[in-house]
Amino acid sequence: MNTSNPDFLPLNGTDYVEFYVGNAKQAAHYYQTAFGFQPLAYAGLETGLTDRTSYVLQQGKIRFILTTALVPDSEIGEHVKQHGDGVKVVALWVDDSRKAFEETTSRGAKPYLQPTVQSDANGEVVLSGIHIYGETVHIFVERKNYKGVFLPGYVKWEPEYQPTDVGLKYVDHMVGNVDWGQMNIWTEFYANVMGFKQLISFDDTDISTEYTALMSKVMSNNNGYIKFPINEPAKGKKKSQIEEYVDYYKGSGVQHVAMATDNIMFTVGELRKRGVEFLTVPETYYETVTERVGLIEEDLKVLQNLGVLIDRDDEGYLLQLFTKPVEDRPTVFFEIIQRKGAKSFGKGNFKALFESIEREQARRGTL
Ligand code: FE2
Repeated sequence: MNTSNPDFLPLNGTDYVEFYVGNAKQAAHYYQTAFGFQPLAYAGLETGLTDRTSYVLQQGKIRFILTTALVPDSEIGEHVKQHGDGVKVVALWVDDSRKAFEETTSRGAKPYLQPTVQSDANGEVVLSGIHIYGETVHIFVERKNYKGVFLPGYVKWEPEYQPTDVGLKYVDHMVGNVDWGQMNIWTEFYANVMGFKQLISFDDTDISTEYTALMSKVMSNNNGYIKFPINEPAKGKKKSQIEEYVDYYKGSGVQHVAMATDNIMFTVGELRKRGVEFLTVPETYYETVTERVGLIEEDLKVLQNLGVLIDRDDEGYLLQLFTKPVEDRPTVFFEIIQRKGAKSFGKGNFKALFESIEREQARRGTL
């Protein structure tokens, strides 16, 4: 950072990701059992809430909140009705929530939550929020004066059932799917309103198969801790997975959360044992992958058995794998990623992946 171009929105990282879901109790069980998340905090009827219940789970630095409505007429219930289970909040950890709110709203962000102080015996937090694409929001979390387990209003959640973790460490990036023609609107929003820079751009000639295509740009904040690729559908002979998402999500929203591990073979092996379903890759992928990516440290046979994909850029390589959607609508899914020097996002795998996704789409009759 230089003084002529100061970072007006310094971000320390992702604070949490909040999902609005139909049944938070069952979703929490799934994220514990299948993904190895650890119980952290709870809020609901027992803590004085009357309209919602939230479970907070953590693994490494990744925190998920699973929130459901307890009453028929609520913003949460309406969100679930429209979108199915999905991401409502991408919370960003800041040192000064009031300043984050002022800097972004003065540049055109639509306010979602005016700066609000919440406190309990463990101190206080300041929360503020702005709208982003679709019905998704950013909350700016200032927690430097708070010592509690999560946020005021939450109590420690200590169930007897505590499956072990699977080695997930932090949120590597989070991808937004936006509606037709909206990619540049939202990349400009991240540039102008939040001070992000564009990392990489590729167009539909890069990412297309015989049938479907997408366009994507990657926006990153000043210190690189926060990376948001933004996708929009592109015209192909058939419906792309982005268009399918937008159709079923009823608009723009978070497509996937990429979670980093430093041992993808262990992590993916565990996830598979616990019932997480991944996209399959064509067998032919591994016949040609070495020509594309060169030598890697891992045993290719082991990666093939786990279905892990490989890509390389100027700085190194990466290992990655994508789950199938984790709800019945073909919308939100997860990526597991291990970086070995590469800072890119697996562009070389997109074609192989798209062909895999199209096979799934064909089965759903939505291609
Ligand atoms: Fe990704």
